[in-house]
Amino acid sequence: MIRPVRALVVCVAALLIACCGGGDPLDPDVDAAVDPDPIPAAGRERSLVWIDPAVVDDASIVGLGVVMAAVADDGHGGQLLADWFERFSTTAHSERLGPLLLIDELRGTLGNDPTAWDLDELPFMVTAVHNRIDLAPRGGGCGELRVSMASTHPIYAPLHLIFLFRQPSAADDTDGDGNTHCLGTAERWARLSELDDGAFVEAARNWLDAGLTHDNFLLAESVELTVSPWEWRQWDGLDNPPLFQTVDTAALNRAGTLRDDFVGFAEANAAGLAARDVAIPPRFRPASARVPPGVEREALDLQVDGFPKLAEQIEIMGCPMCHTTDAEFVHTTPQRTFSDFYDRELDARAERLDLMNEGVDVGVPPFGPLQTP
Ligand code: HEC
Repeated sequence: MIRPVRALVVCVAALLIACCGGGDPLDPDVDAAVDPDPIPAAGRERSLVWIDPAVVDDASIVGLGVVMAAVADDGHGGQLLADWFERFSTTAHSERLGPLLLIDELRGTLGNDPTAWDLDELPFMVTAVHNRIDLAPRGGGCGELRVSMASTHPIYAPLHLIFLFRQPSAADDTDGDGNTHCLGTAERWARLSELDDGAFVEAARNWLDAGLTHDNFLLAESVELTVSPWEWRQWDGLDNPPLFQTVDTAALNRAGTLRDDFVGFAEANAAGLAARDVAIPPRFRPASARVPPGVEREALDLQVDGFPKLAEQIEIMGCPMCHTTDAEFVHTTPQRTFSDFYDRELDARAERLDLMNEGVDVGVPPFGPLQTP
């Protein structure tokens, strides 16, 4: 048995020497032939979240003007922004005056016609641009490209927004059977980590030019304390759809038919909910969620045998708990710092991106964070 194998090894070695001219290990060409262009590890500040002022403070690259122009049908967004902020005060589930008062003030300083406003003059800053390729298996395409912003107004703050854009899959993100693996997009994000500063800024500009389009826009989200308490909403145009994966804790804690319905649902789906792998039906989700500052958040009251942490496992998928676990209501601040929670999440996302680039099948992530809080 040994002889033929040996003969084969010798034969292959001879072939290699014959075709590759000896294979000098110090010859850079030979190294290149082995691994032409290894994919670098994903560095946080290039491949996961951008806070470089050369990018996020340049209104020609990204800012309220660029983003609202992509979001709005009219390609400008001033009117939509005014209608949107005024809408905070007329929604039946919650009426908040702060954003409306900000628009009133802007009408006074910039003129009564929002279609004529230079949106980059408004008191908002970009806090970060976020790579959410981790959402690909849940949401489709290759996940999302997100831009977060914060009000810099002395009164109408804290007022944070985030704009969610689909990151579409490209030709090299799909295998021969039509399955989307996003390996092309994963590699492109990682390769940003090998650029020098100037090249990175240009790459980021091109990336955002291509990514922040009307077709790619999905939704906006807000979290604000323009009046107490803190409040979270999602925005589909001027409507607030039921908050994604967020249970209506206050309503579900009250005895009644909705609670009974929910307890039945939780018992029937306990294992999947504990694994954060079950969609929460819209009837259990509120259009807005509130948590007062400085007091303990009301926790979901739910006991299911064999699942001692089920209430937390459900609530961490929703806005209020995920924004108050090792976080002071927000994950990105106007100082461009991150909550401890987001800090850990970024490490988990970097690890996932590196695994993808090493060819590991990373599978479908749970709803909510990658980390287990
Ligand atoms: C998995 C935990 C988690 C859940 C659940 C969650 N968020 Fe966030 N949120 C984050 C993180 C982390 C960021 C930073 C950007 C990112 O990673 O996409 C963020 C950013 C934001 C921002 C920008 C301001 C900030 O805090 O940085 C808003 C606004 C926001 N989220 C609203 C919402 C709303 C509304 C919901 C509920 C539908 C929600 N979030 C659910 C973790 C979460």
